[in-house]
Amino acid sequence: MKLGQEWYRREEVASRYDQRFTHGGKVLNREEIEKLLELVDPENKRVLDIATGTGRFAEAMEASGGRVTGLDASMEMLKPGRADYLVGDALDLPFKDKAFDITTSMRFLHLLRPKQVPEFLKEVERVTKDKFVFESLNPMSLRATYQWYLPQRSYLFRTSHLKEIIEDLDFVEEVEYDSHFLVPYGAYQVMPYGFAKRLNKIDKNIVDFLSPFASTVYWELHF
Ligand SMILES: C[S@@+](CC[C@H](N)C(=O)[O-])C[C@H]1O[C@@H](n2cnc3c(N)ncnc32)[C@H](O)[C@@H]1O
Repeated sequence: MKLGQEWYRREEVASRYDQRFTHGGKVLNREEIEKLLELVDPENKRVLDIATGTGRFAEAMEASGGRVTGLDASMEMLKPGRADYLVGDALDLPFKDKAFDITTSMRFLHLLRPKQVPEFLKEVERVTKDKFVFESLNPMSLRATYQWYLPQRSYLFRTSHLKEIIEDLDFVEEVEYDSHFLVPYGAYQVMPYGFAKRLNKIDKNIVDFLSPFASTVYWELHF
């Protein structure tokens, strides 16, 4: 069983997953969705959302006019009754070549190890026509301070390391990346809403100056 899959298949983990988007997490959720929609215009596009989880990004892209398919390894995470959500493995996608215009995958890469990244990106490129948007977590950020405590054993990719891995892949035509959130997800999630909202305003204003220490890096690959 691959890293991360077992953890999110636990009923008690899956049923509590969306609780992290209450209180301060609500601010975080809104910001993450806004950021994704800055990078992706899903209107009239076929979009695949890998590791879709409870579907917050898939729903937002659908609301913006995308035809979205959500895939996740955990049946427990997927919302019941959605015809366009399916169980599957990110490293072995059950779709035809170039079945989607755009692919997205949020909060997933940290569940892979560096040696799995080329295999994952090759599989994404096989099913995707234009571009892939995803994010990685930075080991030079405050996230690293509580990393050891998390049971799902995340891998934090140095930006330069991930860029090297990507640039070695001949099927990637262009790579762009951009830092976001100085304050890590876990901290936002435990703050009261009002405090998180104020803090996020500051966060957005200073993250560009402190980008080597940002907790999240957003990536856009063109094929
Ligand atoms: C942190 S959650 C992110 C969910 C969603 N993208 C979000 O941001 O709310 C990570 C998700 O990755 C899924 N996952 C883990 N390994 C996977 C794999 N090999 N293939 C597909 N999904 C996987 C888990 O089941 C879980 O739903």
